[in-house]
Amino acid sequence: MPDDLVPADHVITIFGACGDLARRSLLPALWHLGREGLLPGSFRVIGNSLEDLTTDDFRALARRAVEEFSPGDISEDAWSEFSDKLSYTSGQFKPDDAGPVTETIRTAEAELGGSPRRLFYFAVPPSAYSSLTEAIGAGGLKERSRVIYEKPFGSDLDATCKLNAEVHEVLDESQVYRIDHFLGKETVQNILALRFANGMFEPVWDAQHIDHVQIDIPETLGIGTRAGFYETIGAMKDMIVTHLFQVLTFVAMEPPARLAADDLMVEKTKLMSCLQPLGRDDVVRGQYVGYRDEAGVAPDSQTETFFAARLAIDNWRWSGVPFFLRTGKRLAGKQWSVTLAFKQPPRTMFGDPPGDFSYDHLALELAPAEGISLGFLAKRPGPTFSLAPASMNFAYDGSFGSKLIGAYERLIHDALIGDRTLFTSAETLEAAWHALEAITKDPPPVEPYDQGSWGPGKAEALIAPRRWRQPTQP
Ligand code: BG6
Repeated sequence: MPDDLVPADHVITIFGACGDLARRSLLPALWHLGREGLLPGSFRVIGNSLEDLTTDDFRALARRAVEEFSPGDISEDAWSEFSDKLSYTSGQFKPDDAGPVTETIRTAEAELGGSPRRLFYFAVPPSAYSSLTEAIGAGGLKERSRVIYEKPFGSDLDATCKLNAEVHEVLDESQVYRIDHFLGKETVQNILALRFANGMFEPVWDAQHIDHVQIDIPETLGIGTRAGFYETIGAMKDMIVTHLFQVLTFVAMEPPARLAADDLMVEKTKLMSCLQPLGRDDVVRGQYVGYRDEAGVAPDSQTETFFAARLAIDNWRWSGVPFFLRTGKRLAGKQWSVTLAFKQPPRTMFGDPPGDFSYDHLALELAPAEGISLGFLAKRPGPTFSLAPASMNFAYDGSFGSKLIGAYERLIHDALIGDRTLFTSAETLEAAWHALEAITKDPPPVEPYDQGSWGPGKAEALIAPRRWRQPTQP
């Protein structure tokens, strides 16, 4: 293992340690990092939440989480070595009451010896971020600290600017890790490799050659047991300003000078600043039929479970190229992709192109099948000259045969070694919210759609005369 990948000794504190995110993602990710030899030589993990648990209860919760959400056998020796490092404290961590948690952290540090680093993970509702950050300052824990903030970071332009200012009262920006787990996905990072490590794609990656771009992240799942969270957030804040915008930056930004945090953040912010503010006609908000009957959802809820948008990027590369974004719950399929549709050549000599999606295109398949395909028209074998859709495919598992590292594993490890390349800056987020400000203040009404469909009919109208590329199309 190269030395720079081995983190320094750490005390890792997870706020919200009994919640959904910790159980599904964080605890399994830490366990996996340990199996891969990517955790520090000496470390402690302190879980904190309002639930009244003992350390043994927390270790049992972590074991159940790993068994449920992390495939693979668990060796008892390895588990016991890992779980010995876990402890739990249920004390509040507030600016005027930071003592008990601070004491637990200092005890763990004394056990490790020396001056271990501190990593805090805020897996709690965003409304708690400001107070938790202040408590880090009040507890005298700022030195040697890094803090991971879950998304969404801020709920509109004003709230994001205010939160950034409050965070900066305690922490230096270099200590702030605004996470977006989509950037931890191998397939999303591969967009950078595809664009900038090859000579053949970048020359056609512009308005001269591309007709439009689709970023499509449909989900079949509903809101599960997350009504409390989802009702106040909705699809735009849960997915668009976060995950889809992050994918958008990788697809559309200019080449950074180096693959380093500052250079990427500059390019991402520049791109976000070129987004034209969205108006009511540029978006479709949908709500699946039956959402209002879910436990914890208001009977007259206006929260959107579907969001589609048409974006314009006002810069030299993308002038006149619409970007269509779509995401939603309880849709007909989960095939996440980015499609770059090429401009059509004159095809009079061949007649009308076959198929619904008549563009030759590059499709970046993000999940669940991970790969890249180039869709084009070919001559159908036979005595007549007719065309048929065809494709060339790259599949990750076929080419590398290796398992992909989980997004949370990757990003937690990055934070442990102090690499902010795949995290989001204050400026990028503020620029993103700027583009969404008008529709946040004056959103169009939600349109109902059937579960198992592709969302409200208006989403088809939004992209017309083009069409959404359906997952099954080559
Ligand atoms: C989360 C959203 O950030 O991403 C969820 O809050 C969504 O609503 C999820 O389902 C999708 O990402 P993944 O990688 O967990 O499937």
